[in-house]
Amino acid sequence: MLKRILLIAAILVPGAAAWAQEAYPLQHADATVNDVQSLQRGARDFMNYCSGCHSLQYLRYNRVAKDLHIPLPELKKNLMFTTKKPSARIVSAMPPADAVKWFGVAPPDLTLMARFMGPDYVYSFLKGFYADKSRLWGVNNLYKPNVAMPFVLAGLQGVQKPVYKSVTGSGGHTSMQLTGVEPGTPGSMTPAQYDQFVHDITNFLYYTAEPFKAQRESMGIFVMLFLLVFFVFAYLLKKEYWKDVH
Ligand code: HEC
Repeated sequence: MLKRILLIAAILVPGAAAWAQEAYPLQHADATVNDVQSLQRGARDFMNYCSGCHSLQYLRYNRVAKDLHIPLPELKKNLMFTTKKPSARIVSAMPPADAVKWFGVAPPDLTLMARFMGPDYVYSFLKGFYADKSRLWGVNNLYKPNVAMPFVLAGLQGVQKPVYKSVTGSGGHTSMQLTGVEPGTPGSMTPAQYDQFVHDITNFLYYTAEPFKAQRESMGIFVMLFLLVFFVFAYLLKKEYWKDVH
């Protein structure tokens, strides 16, 4: 029931992203659903790095394959790890009860996340992890304080370090305030490569949140062309009718 309410809320309130505004301004994802190659890479990376914990349960594999022009054999070989049925929903391998046991909270379904929180939030979240020894997984997140998700992309990005500044409160005592992050231990990717990687996954999740968006945009052009052609005929017809009147 809750899921259904969230689904309806996400459809009615695409601007729900405002919630995500934390103390840190979001980074711009420049998300697009029209770059098919980026979407294909994003789909592959999602299946490899995220689908172990997160589902996209409102989407089916064959829908993704059709929309992103992925041939069926390739879909089966590279993207389907938990089922053999292309018509199956994209459900994570991890049973929700196990997830709660491991993480304290169940990893949310991500089908609508980019619509709910905005693509910039997803992008920023994936770039916002930093080392924090006080946390269970040794990381925290600028945009989601005390996050329960382990930083599964640490091998790629490396682990950033927090930057603090000391502020003096009204009572005269100083405390440390988190102001951002800086590069820490390096990962296997350069910052530019990591940005591209996160951009691809964000685009893919932007697509999953609104699979019709790509179609709608091409449909828009079709409608404009139709109206143009229709206008020409209407105009000729009008001329024909009025010919005898004048
Ligand atoms: C090992 C399990 C695991 C993997 C793998 C994983 N996540 Fe998560 N993720 C979680 C958990 C647990 C949460 C809930 C965090 C919380 O509520 O603090 C979460 C939350 C999130 C959120 C929501 C954050 C919010 O504001 O509530 C996003 C977005 C997300 N994950 C994206 C991803 C992406 C993209 C990947 C793949 C690159 C990924 N996750 C891989 C466990 C995982």
